[in-house]
Amino acid sequence: MTDSYLFAAKLNQVGVGKMFRVQLEGKLLLLANVNGAIHACDEMCTHEDVSLALGALKDNCIKCSLHGSRFDLLTGKPLDDPAEENLRIYPVKVEGDSILVDIK
Ligand code: FES
Repeated sequence: MTDSYLFAAKLNQVGVGKMFRVQLEGKLLLLANVNGAIHACDEMCTHEDVSLALGALKDNCIKCSLHGSRFDLLTGKPLDDPAEENLRIYPVKVEGDSILVDIK
């Protein structure tokens, strides 16, 4: 099996409770550190073209800054209106001090 994980960032670039924007093969992603667990998702809200990097991270959710929809970082599901479409979530591995993301 081919390992399709790509290096995304160093662990110390994504502090606890923080988000960090990265570009992997032309795709903009957001890394989020929730109590030490790293999550990766698309950077754009699924409702309109607004960067979720402008939003807020709380518990396992990112809240969009424009209309306030929250997305669950484990499932990608929107928890509030007006967003209806799931946010794409990507598998993450941490190896040493490197964060690796599978964008395939
Ligand atoms: S743009 Fe994100 S909820 Fe509307």
